Amino acid sequence: MDKLLIIDDEVDIQRSFRRLLAGPDLEVHSAGSGEEAIEMIPLLQPDLVIMDVRMGGMSGLETLRRIRDTDARLPVIMMTAYGTTQTAIEAMKLGAFDYLLKPFDIPKLKELIAGALRAARQMKTVVSVEPLLESDDYELGIVGRSPAMQTVFKLIGQLAASEATALITGESGTGKELVARAIYSHSARAKQPFVAINCAAIPESLLESELLGHEKGSFTGATQQRIGKFEQCNLGTIFLDEIGDMPLATQTKILRVLQSGTFERVGGNETVRVNVRVIAATNKPLEQAVASRAFREDLFYRLNVVRVPLPPLRERREDIPLLVDYFLRRFARESGRAPKGLVPEVLHLLEAHSWPGNVRELENALRRATVVATGETLLPRDLPPELSAQPLRAPLAPTPLASPVPSPSTTTPPAPTPADAPSPIPEGNPDLAALASQLFRWARDHRELKILPAVERELVIEALKETRGNQVQAARLLGITRATLRKRVEKFGIRRDLIIQ
Ligand SMILES: Nc1ncnc2c1ncn2[C@@H]1O[C@H](COP(=O)(O)OP(=O)(O)OP(=O)(O)O)[C@@H](O)[C@H]1O
Ligand SMILES: [Mg+2]
Repeated sequence: MDKLLIIDDEVDIQRSFRRLLAGPDLEVHSAGSGEEAIEMIPLLQPDLVIMDVRMGGMSGLETLRRIRDTDARLPVIMMTAYGTTQTAIEAMKLGAFDYLLKPFDIPKLKELIAGALRAARQMKTVVSVEPLLESDDYELGIVGRSPAMQTVFKLIGQLAASEATALITGESGTGKELVARAIYSHSARAKQPFVAINCAAIPESLLESELLGHEKGSFTGATQQRIGKFEQCNLGTIFLDEIGDMPLATQTKILRVLQSGTFERVGGNETVRVNVRVIAATNKPLEQAVASRAFREDLFYRLNVVRVPLPPLRERREDIPLLVDYFLRRFARESGRAPKGLVPEVLHLLEAHSWPGNVRELENALRRATVVATGETLLPRDLPPELSAQPLRAPLAPTPLASPVPSPSTTTPPAPTPADAPSPIPEGNPDLAALASQLFRWARDHRELKILPAVERELVIEALKETRGNQVQAARLLGITRATLRKRVEKFGIRRDLIIQ
């Protein structure tokens, strides 16, 4: 029988895990703090640990670090309510088996537990503990909650804890350079230099000397010795961007650097030795280049040790609202103004676009919109023509995604804001009618007599969850005033812990 240890300072969580998971094949134990867990683990010898990141006393990450110190094979799954890049990366870097975002998807949780237990059984051989790195508070600014991006965060964490060569692939604007910098800034080499070089932007004839340097007189114009990027960033990390555009001759030299850490400067005989970590990126399918002999196969395999594929934005549209919020806040910070809001139409248009230029295109579209918008709210007409030309529905009330509070610098007399004047109730919506009919029949069959207030209560909770407890935004989503929302919260006795999980 397998043993699972739940570490959480909330007794309710411990209890619900026990109820959910304990069975003939699984014994569920619990600890209320990291300190308690550290004492329990050697005696209990659990097969799997699930732990909250946020706990009173020793933090989840610190507890994880201690567990990894003493038992590198015990899989630990971290639970976090904050889908932040930072926690996910830190946890994976410290060797967490995986992490779970709250609120949980139960089938996924069970699947993950089964996978972790399977892995625990397979991991009979001793695994070496990765060196522990100093964590710092560097804000990464990689936004994304989609499963595809969560996988990317995991890979960043794992790569940061290793020295492996990484190949980041993805369409233009998907964040390849951002990811390379994230790996670097979380790695043990973070205090050493990071040098990025775009192989496509440098003329073929100069690339090799740019990378490896040259000796005086090695070619016309080489009037003095020059130290190349590899030497400049000795002990650091080099980012070879657009590596697919590297000429074959240079590829050969780079392969040697990767294999032996040595090279000769252009026109020189002296062998130079360097210790540089290489991260490469490409938006071209390198396999094809290998097939057509434009890219060396051996170099490809050498670079492709760990592959980080970045998903195009159109395949993770659920991240668009988050990215919009992030960029609007960032632009606001840069300009020292309050973030702009946007009408729902704008968000619909942004979510519907195919984004061939990915996140960079989104960033540029929003930057442009912020500049051309005349008011505090972005309108469809502020978007680039290829977006705003799409058919629109009737405009709705503004939804300031990034700015729940009106800018204090506004000097115009206060017009009735949407929070005070809810938008008129739209005409009958067939989808909603079908849902309501289903709900009504369900309530009748289950003898749920107070269906209207019950549904109202659930909707209020959902809106507050969605907005992380922001009443102004939640009221807007629900189409009621903030005062009404507040009354509902009181009437239904909605506690904060129902919302913020
Ligand atoms: N997940 C993300 N969260 C926040 N910003 C992002 C994200 N992905 C990309 N960006 C931003 O989008 C822009 C493009 O990112 P980056 O330069 O890393 O892309 P790239 O894949 O290297 O593009 P290219 O192939 O065109 O060189 C940058 O301004 C970056 O900050
Ligand atoms: Mg790039």
